[in-house]
Formats: sequence, structure tokens, C-alpha cells
Amino acid sequence: MFSLPKNSKIVKGKTFGTKKNLVLNIYRWNRDNRKNPSINTYHLNKSKMGPMVLDAIINIKNNIDPTLTFRRSCREGICGSCSMNINGTNTLACLTPIDKKEFNIYPLPHMSVIKDLVVDLEPFFEQYKSIKPYVVTDKKPKKEHIQLPEDRKKLDGLYECILCACCSTSCPSYWWNSDKFLGPAILLQAYRFIVDSRDKNKKERLKQLNDAFKLYRCHTIMNCTKTCPKGLNPAKAISEIKKLQVSN
Ligand code: SF4
Ligand code: SF4
Ligand code: FES
Repeated sequence: MFSLPKNSKIVKGKTFGTKKNLVLNIYRWNRDNRKNPSINTYHLNKSKMGPMVLDAIINIKNNIDPTLTFRRSCREGICGSCSMNINGTNTLACLTPIDKKEFNIYPLPHMSVIKDLVVDLEPFFEQYKSIKPYVVTDKKPKKEHIQLPEDRKKLDGLYECILCACCSTSCPSYWWNSDKFLGPAILLQAYRFIVDSRDKNKKERLKQLNDAFKLYRCHTIMNCTKTCPKGLNPAKAISEIKKLQVSN
């Protein structure tokens, strides 16, 4: 019979403040103290902060509860570090407006939690490293690598990926096989180098991806494309890689 691991049940945590016009319920867990994860409730005054959910979280850290742990850097959707699950959707806190009275905030799903909203992204970036995320050339160019405008255009919709991992952590195939399936973010990145006219490693790249798990665990469920906060389409990039596998 299925049973949850010891101390994994989420319990009610502390409540900070009393009824105001904004409530944030935030997942808390500290792997050092072995206690159950809990949900803390923070009552806030919306007029005292910036317009985004990240502003509210920073406000809690600065003024109410300095123990709250999360990642952030650019606060404008460029660094990819504030990815988390907000009201059931993986997204960037800095691009999510405070347009509701209440928010439920969890770390990205199916990832090992380090503390609170910070998950372990090391395996994700190991997978990124495995696809050689740089242009490979056979000879040293005398000047810069030349690329025609029409070839440069092929990178649109790909180069904008900020590796926030929202897509991969929304993909059921990645949840169950993240040790072997590369997942939508890494496959979109792989495709970005496959179609780069300056790269001379296309055949090798396709060969490396031609694997029942690395690529073909994608069953076109489309969660990845639905969730991408940058409006990209990893599912399409994956289907393009599959097409290239057939034609090669
Ligand atoms: S389309 Fe593929 S990669 Fe995207 S969510 Fe579905 S299974 Fe995962
Ligand atoms: S494709 Fe979108 S959701 Fe996936 S890592 Fe890149 S920016 Fe994030
Ligand atoms: S803080 Fe950089 S993407 Fe949100």
C-alpha cells in the first residue's frame, strides 16, 4: 500500500498579522530540522509594496519574516531565478501581478527542495551542460562568425529561453523520468543549437538525442508550452527535433 514518507505531510504553519487586503500562503520547509513542511500565512497591505508577487515576497522577507528563503535577481523576467508555483501554475514571481486577494505559493513541483521556495537545480543544469550549449565550429574564423539575417531569424522563439525550468517542472514525463528524459527546457535549448547556421555539430547533436528516454519520453502533453512565462513553445521545438531525426 502507498504511504507518504515520514514527516512529508504539509501542516499548518504560523500566521503573521491580521486581516488586511492581501494574503500570501507560502510553503516552508527546512531540510536541516527534519520537521514537516508547513504553510505560513502572511497578511499584507497591498499599498505598501510594488505591483508584483515578487514585491510582496520581498516585503515579507524585509519587514515580517527574514527566514523566508527564495531566489531572485533581475525582477524583470530575464534571469529566470524567481520561478515558483503560484496558484497552481509554474511561473516567474516577478512577472505575476498582484491581481487577486490571495496567493498560494509553492516551490517548483517534483524537484528536491533545499529550503522553502528554493529547489535543487543542479541536475537540471547538468542536463543543460550535456547538450553542449555553445556553437561548435570546425575551424577558427578569421573574424566574427557570419550569419545571414534569415538564418538568425531561425533562432527567434528559442534564444529568449531564460532556463527558469517552469516548463520542465510542469511536464508529467519529466516528473517521472527526470534522471533520463531531458525535458522541454533542455530540448528547446538543444534545438536552438541544432538550427544555428554557425554550428557544425548538428549530426552529432541529433545522434546524441536519438534516445528512447532523452527525447522520446515527450508524449506531446503540451503542459510545457502552456506554462512558459516567456511565451515560448518548447513542445514545437521538440517535435522539430523528432522530425529531423526521421529525415536524417
Ligand atoms: S509536450 Fe512533451 S515536454 Fe512538453 S509537457 Fe508534454 S511531454 Fe512534456
Ligand atoms: S522554455 Fe520557457 S519555461 Fe522553459 S525554461 Fe525556457 S523560458 Fe522557462
Ligand atoms: S527575478 Fe529574474 S526572472 Fe524573476
